[in-house]
Amino acid sequence: MVYVREASVRNPWWQRGVVYQVYPRSFADSNGDGVGDLPGITGRLGYLRWLGVEAVWISPFYPSPMADFGYDVSDYTGVHPVFGTLEDFDDLVAEAHRLGLKVIVDYVPNHTSEEHPWFVESRSSRRNPKRDWYIWRDPKADGAPPNNWLATFGGGAWEWDEETEQYYYHAYLKEQPDLNWRNPEVRGAMYDVLRFWLDRGADGFRVDALRQLVKDERFRDNPPNPDHRPGDSPYDALLPVYSTDRPEVHGIVREMRGVLDEYGEDRLLIGELYLPIERLVAYYGEDGSGVQLPTNMHLISTPWKAREIAALIEAYEAALPPGGWPNWVLGNHDRSRVASRVGPGQARVAAMLLLTLRGTPTLYYGDELGMRDVEIPPHRVRDPWEKNVPGIGLGRDPERTPMQWDGSPNAGFCPSGVEPWLPPADDSPVVNVECQREAPDSLLNLYRRLLSLRRAEPALSSGDYALVAATDEVLAYQRQHEGRRFIVVLNLGPREPCLKMPGLRGRVALGTLLERQGAEVVKEVTLRGNEGLVIEAR
Ligand code: GLC
Repeated sequence: MVYVREASVRNPWWQRGVVYQVYPRSFADSNGDGVGDLPGITGRLGYLRWLGVEAVWISPFYPSPMADFGYDVSDYTGVHPVFGTLEDFDDLVAEAHRLGLKVIVDYVPNHTSEEHPWFVESRSSRRNPKRDWYIWRDPKADGAPPNNWLATFGGGAWEWDEETEQYYYHAYLKEQPDLNWRNPEVRGAMYDVLRFWLDRGADGFRVDALRQLVKDERFRDNPPNPDHRPGDSPYDALLPVYSTDRPEVHGIVREMRGVLDEYGEDRLLIGELYLPIERLVAYYGEDGSGVQLPTNMHLISTPWKAREIAALIEAYEAALPPGGWPNWVLGNHDRSRVASRVGPGQARVAAMLLLTLRGTPTLYYGDELGMRDVEIPPHRVRDPWEKNVPGIGLGRDPERTPMQWDGSPNAGFCPSGVEPWLPPADDSPVVNVECQREAPDSLLNLYRRLLSLRRAEPALSSGDYALVAATDEVLAYQRQHEGRRFIVVLNLGPREPCLKMPGLRGRVALGTLLERQGAEVVKEVTLRGNEGLVIEAR
């Protein structure tokens, strides 16, 4: 099949450009307290501009007790002092816009911190006007929780409140009580939060945990998951059919989108969604009234093999609704880093895949350097998930270590002599921005070249997609737009396969090893191990 962008659809910035995710604790520490901050990010926007991305999405920087490192918000309209001030946010936006970059704020609607004043009130008495802002239920006759639902980060999802003798529901930590989105007052207050940041110049939001927002009206038990194996996350022992992805969520998404549309057509909603493809695409909403980008996380979990990836692309493209714009994610602050998952050789191929597929790519900070998961010694573990469910690889600290700016002891993230909140990687003396900027054949320069080619050639961002071949080792596809035609050929293994393409004449526009540019390609191409090529066809 050929997958095409409908000509009638607008081509806004978020379809043309690449989103770069910053985990603010780990990007750049401007005041030497070992934790990254907003002025640190502002100081590095020039780097993002040089790299060639379009937008920066910043994980939460709100006031928070940091039980889940900022995803437990105690004030939706402020900045935690560790990250700076609201003025620092305004400066960041002003500088980003001056450089032509968009700013995407992380919006955490599903739950607050237990220290949020709304929850403090809600828990204070059953008669408090905010009682119904959260999800309170009576115990069963024997005192047990109202149903069998589990919390993502381990244990049951219901927490008993001694004072008021009811349970409250939390999809994540008990310090993160879920808001009751069926309550119109909650919806109104949370839409005002969107307006607050839009008024300050935010260009869009990444909506956290979107599938969790609405729960079954009858609070039915979740069924067991027959595929659950020892060593899997305990949360996955049940299929969360009644606690997540409920049909009523789409009405709420439409309302959120309505708030953004009050600010013109160009503000963006990205929905964080771990869902099978057929469920995921529902979040585009009827006639495109949902989020513009429901995150497609499937490249993270699909086996790194040519046929599997080809089948994923095909299944995803075929499932998109009319006008639905694709997107691709290779890594984020919750999943093992791509260079660790696929290895350093394939990290280059992964870069080429991400930046030549149809749709909007999201790039996680440091992946452009090949940063790897860092082993965290037990005494330095910070992530509550690892603390609650230790030893089976659920912890997320390994992919959240300091950005590697240079070869100095703390990788240029914070001054030497300060202990960064997570240890820098051992390879930071050689894997860092400063070294890789100078090395013409570095992964960083490959990313930069790919980003620049992608900007120059709409065929690679908005053009049609068609599969050319998927063999044991090679994935090849065509991208085409207004007479410009490219064939992307990716070798997903270490051998040197030869792919025959009888009709092909062209030249290499870019290779992952950054050494075959301009080479003629006629009828066949032999790839080196772990090599990918973008071939401009004639
Ligand atoms: C999302 C975030 C994750 C966070 C969780 C709870 O999945 O990406 O980091 O812990 O929501 O807010």
